[in-house]
Amino acid sequence: MQRNLAESTVMEERAAAIAHEVKNPLTMVGLNLDILEASDKRLGADKNYAMIRKELRKISELMIDFIYLSSNQQKERGQVVIKNLLGEIIEDFSVSLPNIALDITYPSVEFILRANESDLRTLFGNIVKNAAEAMEYCGKIQIEVSARERHVNISFKDNGPGLCEAAQSKIFKEHFTTKPMGSGLGLSICQKIAQEHGGSFTLENLREGGCLAVVKLAL
Ligand SMILES: Nc1ncnc2c1ncn2[C@@H]1O[C@H](COP(=O)(O)OP(=O)(O)O)[C@@H](O)[C@H]1O
Ligand SMILES: [Mg+2]
Repeated sequence: MQRNLAESTVMEERAAAIAHEVKNPLTMVGLNLDILEASDKRLGADKNYAMIRKELRKISELMIDFIYLSSNQQKERGQVVIKNLLGEIIEDFSVSLPNIALDITYPSVEFILRANESDLRTLFGNIVKNAAEAMEYCGKIQIEVSARERHVNISFKDNGPGLCEAAQSKIFKEHFTTKPMGSGLGLSICQKIAQEHGGSFTLENLREGGCLAVVKLAL
């Protein structure tokens, strides 16, 4: 039994190392693609490049999810100003998702957490990404920040189709996905990060349609 455990740890470490190694060639392929595209004058070639880039992005996102889940490293924590972090995420996504309206309601008090900023970025990013994918990149995401009993609550409401029947009972199962190229790891990662920060993560359907994701983090 113990031997099996040791063997599976070795396998996990190898898989994580491979995932890390795959990221470098992906970056090189992307860079060379830029060079080729700049000099390619064929009619309609831009569509081929856009398709290749989209598929490369999917592989790279799969790698990021996988690397996150297989990493046991102790994460450094610092002071994170929630308003600033959410502001940066909204700005980044507004550029890549021009047809998604991201609105935020924020109280006048400032929330500063002792947290791993990169993990919180992954957590909020996964929620926005899922909402955008569910809405087929066109719709609204309303973010609201509030505090209650030593926790800050950050809610994300989208106006997409909501969780499908199959998804409702399985969303926190690793590898459950309804997407052809999904990793099914995003929501498990959200849950793990929220719990590591003394909080929780929930995702449910709204009666009026769409999904409500709520992140609770210890203050
Ligand atoms: N905002 C949302 N609206 C509708 N369905 C969602 C939403 N967020 C997540 N889901 C469902 O939960 C599943 C699991 O999500 P996730 O763990 O992030 O994996 P992935 O995005 O790779 O499929 C998705 O495939 C989708 O069916
Ligand atoms: Mg996802």
